[in-house]
Amino acid sequence: MTTFSPTISHPRTETEGTRQGPTPPPMRVAIIGAGRGGTALLDALHQIDTIEVVGITDKNSSAPGLRRARELTVPIYEQVSDLIKSQQPNLVMDVTGDSAMESALQEQVSSDTDIVNGQTSRLLWLLIQHETTLQTELLQAEKLAGIGSFAAGIAHDINNPLQLILGLAENLAEETDLDAVHLQARDIIEAVKRTTAICRDLTSYSRRTSLRQDGLISVNAKLDEALKIARYAVALQDIEIRKYYQPDVVALGNPDQLLHVFVNLITNAVQAMEHQGVLTLETATIDGETRIRVSDTGSGIPPELLNRIFDPFFTTKPPGKGTGLGLYNIKNVIHHMHGTITVESQVERGSTFTLTFPGDTSRREGGSS
Ligand SMILES: Nc1ncnc2c1ncn2[C@@H]1O[C@H](COP(=O)(O)OP(=O)(O)O)[C@@H](O)[C@H]1O
Ligand SMILES: [Mg+2]
Repeated sequence: MTTFSPTISHPRTETEGTRQGPTPPPMRVAIIGAGRGGTALLDALHQIDTIEVVGITDKNSSAPGLRRARELTVPIYEQVSDLIKSQQPNLVMDVTGDSAMESALQEQVSSDTDIVNGQTSRLLWLLIQHETTLQTELLQAEKLAGIGSFAAGIAHDINNPLQLILGLAENLAEETDLDAVHLQARDIIEAVKRTTAICRDLTSYSRRTSLRQDGLISVNAKLDEALKIARYAVALQDIEIRKYYQPDVVALGNPDQLLHVFVNLITNAVQAMEHQGVLTLETATIDGETRIRVSDTGSGIPPELLNRIFDPFFTTKPPGKGTGLGLYNIKNVIHHMHGTITVESQVERGSTFTLTFPGDTSRREGGSS
């Protein structure tokens, strides 16, 4: 069985054991200022495996970036001088916008440490914000492209209750028994409610999500919701669905985005099984961490493709069936939630995607950055 876990910056090649040459030591970066700019930088740099954020500092002990640093286990310093002395960073990023800090830093850092400050660090922050916006747009675009293929499934699901309503209404037109009229009216109301529920699910799925609506998500309910949505994209009739849910499994993040992640994973799994096989959904809280597994008994992924499936536009599906953006977007959402995604796969046997999210979610506050 081959395992793979992606990183944002560099596709890893350990799966093939072909790492070339010694890897250079990571760049050691210190961040001064833990407001919105510092938090955004911390989030972005933390995901890059050739960068080590060696510490962060802020005068204000309740700055949002310090809380994020604790979650990411990045060292926090009270004094700028302590951070610089003890960590010897290669690069100091000053996002305080304070000119006194600029001159203080010049005196403290050694000659082989670079400093980024003023408009330059503002520019970096703007670029990071811009990238976040692009990622959100891409997610929305990919989601809408997927919804195009829902049409047949939706038409079918709405047509059934509509036909029922028509039949009942035709009966009603001739019905003289008042009790029968009431009974059929109630059936009509139920059928209308079913179509309304379909429309509600789809409208909420297609809506544009915002990165700022983070909150505690009930994972089991989200997976069930995703199954309902995925039914429109792929036929589930001949798929056996096994659920192993632990109660009260939660994750912190944007509920709409997590729903999209699950819909994508389930869709991929079912497509890999060519409409026959077992789809297994598992949730658990292990050592305070949330773990979610989506497994299939489908085609599997050849080892040489494992490190490419998370790349944008990588797809093995014909046009109209795949955009190649599903796993790329999934990876971005999961990293935004400070989680990880790994895949294990065996050709002709099937694949398992495992998502892990950090623990202690109940004590964390949402929507900080
Ligand atoms: N569960 C799976 N089983 C087998 N192959 C998979 C699975 N999930 C993803 N893949 C492979 O990864 C590729 C990329 O997936 P994704 O990013 O979702 O794009 P798309 O589904 O549009 O092709 C797929 O084309 C497929 O080759
Ligand atoms: Mg996909």
